[in-house]
Amino acid sequence: MHKTITSSYLKWAGGKKGLVFILDKLTPKNIERYFEPFLGSGAFFFYLVQTRKKFQAILSDSNFELINTYKELRDNVNELIEILHEHQENYNKNMEKYYYYIRDAYVPKNNTELAGRFIFLNKSCYNGLYRVNKSGNFNVPHGRYINPKICNREKLMECSELLRIYEVEISCNVYRNTTSKCENNDFVYFDPPYFPISKTSKFTDYTKESFGILEHNELAKEFERLSDIGANVILSNSNSDYIKTLYKKYDIIKIKSSRNINCNSKKRKDHYDLIILNHDRKTKDEKIISKIQSTNTKNILKRE
Ligand SMILES: C[S@@+](CC[C@H](N)C(=O)[O-])C[C@H]1O[C@@H](n2cnc3c(N)ncnc32)[C@H](O)[C@@H]1O
Repeated sequence: MHKTITSSYLKWAGGKKGLVFILDKLTPKNIERYFEPFLGSGAFFFYLVQTRKKFQAILSDSNFELINTYKELRDNVNELIEILHEHQENYNKNMEKYYYYIRDAYVPKNNTELAGRFIFLNKSCYNGLYRVNKSGNFNVPHGRYINPKICNREKLMECSELLRIYEVEISCNVYRNTTSKCENNDFVYFDPPYFPISKTSKFTDYTKESFGILEHNELAKEFERLSDIGANVILSNSNSDYIKTLYKKYDIIKIKSSRNINCNSKKRKDHYDLIILNHDRKTKDEKIISKIQSTNTKNILKRE
């Protein structure tokens, strides 16, 4: 019997849904404390909590609205579902008009409504992107989905339960404030905004503060500090020479990316990500890694 493993309730630029199985193979067998300080949609976290023995999770992201949404999902899921249900009904009457009303004019009265707005925009905006302008206002245009599911009750309930039954600590923080708590043997997964591989590939606007070369240099130092104190760390990033040089002391694996970056199918070619780790991998066999990559995501998200 196959049981489907729940993926995240959000769609996220740079989300790792397609890489969870490979990441899992590179993750230490026993996890006691798990840190994910660039949380986004939490694709890897949701996979791990359903496949590993119970562990303590410390999750964070610098995006305030994203973290508020996780907290509301955990603590007020029924109200949140009601709000999303209402958004769904109003949206179905006039999609474009309602989208821009919620994006530009609607003022949420409390944190649950704020989370409802966040999920609504995530499901109905262009490509599920989260991008803000210099003043911090969400500025992604309306998406082109025919009938987007704004209120996926079952998924929301499942994710809420996973956040409640595990010992999950969630906070809005820059990554360093989270990893400063790490100790020997903790496991950390870093998935920062990617280092740009070309001028057009720059996408670091998840928050007002962008993540540039200085931030990547700082992160590499933090990776080293964590290695020195005996934490197990995995980091994903773009396949760029700069990143390869920054992490040249460590084990670097190049893997086929699960994303199609170019919307023009003629210009589409294979893209690669780097996974960097500071500990012994469970598998050193490159054939196993490429076999996992050729398995499609739907199969990956099923287990015996
Ligand atoms: C590539 S995304 C993470 C995607 C995630 N792994 C997933 O599967 O959806 C990077 C995340 O880092 C967050 N971020 C950007 N700068 C940050 C910082 N200085 N500290 C913490 N989080 C940051 C962004 O808000 C974004 O959610």
